[in-house]
Amino acid sequence: MSHGSTHDSPIKPADLRGILKYVPMFRDHIFVIALDGSIVEHENFANTVTDIAVLRSLNIKVVLVHGIGKQLRDGAERAGIRPSDIYGEGPTDAKTMALAREASALVSQVMQEALSQAGLKCAVTNAVRATESGVIRGKDMIFTGKVEKVDTALLKNLIALDVVPLVSPILCSREGTSLRVNSDLLAAELATALGASKVIYLTPYPGLTVDGEPELNLSLDALRAVLAARKSGNIEERLLSKSRCAVRALENGVARAHILDGRILGGLLTEIFDKVGLGTMIHANDYEQIRQARKKDARAIHNITKQGVRNEMLVQRTLQYIEQHIDNYFVYEIDDSIIGCAYLRDYPGAGAMEIGSVYVQPFYQGKDVGRKLVEYGELAAAKRGAKKLFALTTQAYGFFHGVCGMEDGTPDDLPPGRRDELKAGGRNSKVLFKKLSPEKKKPVRA
Ligand SMILES: CC(C)(COP(=O)(O)OP(=O)(O)OC[C@H]1O[C@@H](n2cnc3c(N)ncnc32)[C@H](O)[C@@H]1OP(=O)(O)O)[C@@H](O)C(=O)NCCC(=O)NCCS
Repeated sequence: MSHGSTHDSPIKPADLRGILKYVPMFRDHIFVIALDGSIVEHENFANTVTDIAVLRSLNIKVVLVHGIGKQLRDGAERAGIRPSDIYGEGPTDAKTMALAREASALVSQVMQEALSQAGLKCAVTNAVRATESGVIRGKDMIFTGKVEKVDTALLKNLIALDVVPLVSPILCSREGTSLRVNSDLLAAELATALGASKVIYLTPYPGLTVDGEPELNLSLDALRAVLAARKSGNIEERLLSKSRCAVRALENGVARAHILDGRILGGLLTEIFDKVGLGTMIHANDYEQIRQARKKDARAIHNITKQGVRNEMLVQRTLQYIEQHIDNYFVYEIDDSIIGCAYLRDYPGAGAMEIGSVYVQPFYQGKDVGRKLVEYGELAAAKRGAKKLFALTTQAYGFFHGVCGMEDGTPDDLPPGRRDELKAGGRNSKVLFKKLSPEKKKPVRA
């Protein structure tokens, strides 16, 4: 491109400013990205590699795993051989193994070509060691193997050198035998061993569809329940393996798993950075959490509640006020960002506490965060001996009443000091309250 000719690029230099907000989001996180063999062969693959280059430019560390299902099937067809297994889940006989080695070499080469074209350094290593699966339910798995050990130091050193490790599903054992390993499982094990924050499966399917309904977001518990209650046709057969591996990765500390269509232009970046995404994201249950606010949260609380104050939904609190009363605040945190907050105010001697400043960032509204914050407040107030929790609101009556189950009250239900404050404030807020019982334990997902 000649200097100054921007007509062949849809991006204007000024657009680059917008990228800044993405820079800190996942800086230094490790993402393990697993591509099905058919995705490497798809015409969108070069675009996917460009997306990977964008991730790298944002300092996200990437490890790539690939499958070989399609290439193995095609190779077997060409050779007129009936493969003993395609996905590394059943026994791999010697003939299938020979084809699998060829398929793996081919896919790996295609990936290296695309990565080279995108200006990314990559390395194929023997950092993951396999061992024979042995005999399972009476069946000799022959050349099918499982991950024995991950040399995380080797992989992390490569990543530190700006090299993208490329891991194929044909691994070597300690004795130097090649073994066929299922690539979904391989990705999950790598993500676990490397402490990755995401494992991302790029598939030829538009994410998980449970009973015909596409799922954008599933909690680990919800996915476990779907798998346990599996009736035929509940989840697409080929996505079952990915779902099980996603569960396994999340159970072992990986925060999120994504299953999405790798054939869509910009799909990978959309899934990661768009608020809605396009595939299915499975999140660990301990990921969204409510905790007591700390001093350093005061500014974030002040910032996020500003919008509510502007719309007269919340009473204005200065930063100093929040700092001084930080112990009364609790926050809902996702990915180290505070996305919601609330505070509890005590009225000693009145047996009552007030929940206030309940605020959820607009994008996260309607996802149960507000209800959980109020539930958490109820539990915390009951624990501190309060018999009643009340709330004053001008614009969220329906939320406190309909969603949180609070009852209509009058200013007479308030502790005297608060009643006077209400009168003096002139906000004409509605009063709601809830009786608390210390025995009642509500499940709060923290
Ligand atoms: C009110 C607020 C805290 C609710 O949080 P949230 O995370 O969106 O709420 P949840 O997801 O737990 O509950 C969603 C339900 O509450 C309802 N809801 C949310 N805000 C509401 C409001 N102002 N009035 C009536 N209902 C409301 C939604 O319609 C939804 O109902 P549904 O379950 O029947 O679909 C949030 O919308 C917010 O921060 N609003 C701005 C600040 C504010 O008004 N705070 C209250 C003053 S103390």
